[in-house]
Amino acid sequence: GAAELGPYRHYMQKEIFEQPRAVADTLEGVQAVVPELFEAANNHAPGEGAYATFRKVDKVLILACGTSYYSGCVAKYWLEAIAKIPCQVEIASEYRYRESVPDSKTLVVTISQSGETADTLAALRHAQSLGMPHTLTVCNVATSAMVRECKLAYITRAGVEIGVASTKAFTTQLVGLFLLTLALARARDLLTDEQEADHLTAMRHLPMALQAVLALEPQIIDWAEQFTTKENALFLGRGLHYPVALEGALKLKEITYIHAEAYAAGELKHGPLALVTSAMPVVTVAPNDALLEKLKSNMQEVRARGGVLYVLADADTHIASSEGIHVIRMPEHYGALSPILHVVPLQLLAYHTAVARGTDVDKPRNLAKSVTVE
Ligand code: G6P
Repeated sequence: GAAELGPYRHYMQKEIFEQPRAVADTLEGVQAVVPELFEAANNHAPGEGAYATFRKVDKVLILACGTSYYSGCVAKYWLEAIAKIPCQVEIASEYRYRESVPDSKTLVVTISQSGETADTLAALRHAQSLGMPHTLTVCNVATSAMVRECKLAYITRAGVEIGVASTKAFTTQLVGLFLLTLALARARDLLTDEQEADHLTAMRHLPMALQAVLALEPQIIDWAEQFTTKENALFLGRGLHYPVALEGALKLKEITYIHAEAYAAGELKHGPLALVTSAMPVVTVAPNDALLEKLKSNMQEVRARGGVLYVLADADTHIASSEGIHVIRMPEHYGALSPILHVVPLQLLAYHTAVARGTDVDKPRNLAKSVTVE
C-alpha cells in the first residue's frame, strides 16, 4: 500500500533508491572471498562443497532471462578477464530447446531474482539431464525452487522487489557475480591476498558511490523531459558496459513503450547508423576505461549524422556538453565495478520518462513480474 512507499511515487523509484542499502546488505558479513559464501544454509541438494567444485570446473555456462540475462552478460567479461575461465551466457529459453555440447566440467550458473522463472528452471534441469552436475544460482529468494535445485547458491539481499522492471535485483546480482568471479579466481590461484582485499574495499565503497549517482536525479529528470516525445532511442556501450546499454534499452521499452535498442558501439556502422537522424536520441555509456577513445570516435560518427547524444561520462573522461551533446557527469571511473554505477542513471531515465508519459510504471502492460509459465 501507499504507506510502504514513503516519499516515493512508485515502487520502482523506491527500489532504485534502495540500491545502496541492498548492495550493503548483500555484502554484509563478507569478510573474505571464501567458497562457503556460495553454500546456502537451506540448500537441500547434496554436493561436494564450493571449494572442490571451483577447483574442478574449467568453464562457466550462465543461464537466465530478461534483466538477469544481462547481469550474466556483464559477468562473462569479469569471469574471463579476472578468473581466466571461459564463459558462455545463454538465454534460458534458447538453451533448453537447442542441441548443445555438454561438458561435465562446466559450472552451470543460473541467475534469477524470483528463483521461479519457468524457462530458467527448465534450462537448469536440461543441463543436469545432459550430465552437468555442478550447479550454482545467484538468486534473491532463498526459499525458491531454483535455490532448492542447485547445489550451490549465492543469495542476494535486495529484499522484495515489486516493480515489474527489475532494478535492485540487477545491481545485487552483479555484486554476487563479482564475488563469484573472485572466488573462482582464488580457487584457480590467480588472485593474491592484496588484490582480493583491494576488490573487497572497492565493493564496500559501492553504497557511497551509488548515493553519489542517485544525487544526479534532477539532471536525469531534465533528460526525461526531452525523451517524453521520442518514438525511438538507441543505446551504445562497449565492453563491460555493452550489457549495461542493453539493460538501459530494456528498461526504457518496458515502462515507457518507446522503441529502444542497444548496440555494441563498434557495430554502429554495421546497421544502426542508418537510423540516426536528429529525431534519434543516442544514449552513450562512457566510462573512463581502455575503450574510451574508440567510443569517442563512435560518438563523432553519430554527431556527423545529426544524432543527438546523451552521454553518461565518468568525471575523468573530459567529455563536455556542446551542440548536440548532453553530458551528465558521473563520479570518477570505478574500474571493474563500474557497470553497477552506470546502470543507475539509465534506470532513472526510464522511470522519469515513464512518469512524464503517464504509463503504469510498476505494472507495465502485457508484462508480469515473475514468468512461471512458458
Ligand atoms: C520478467 C521480469 C524481469 C525479469 C525476468 C527474469 O520478465 O519482468 O524483470 O528480469 O522476468 O526473472 P527472474 O526472476 O528469473 O530474474
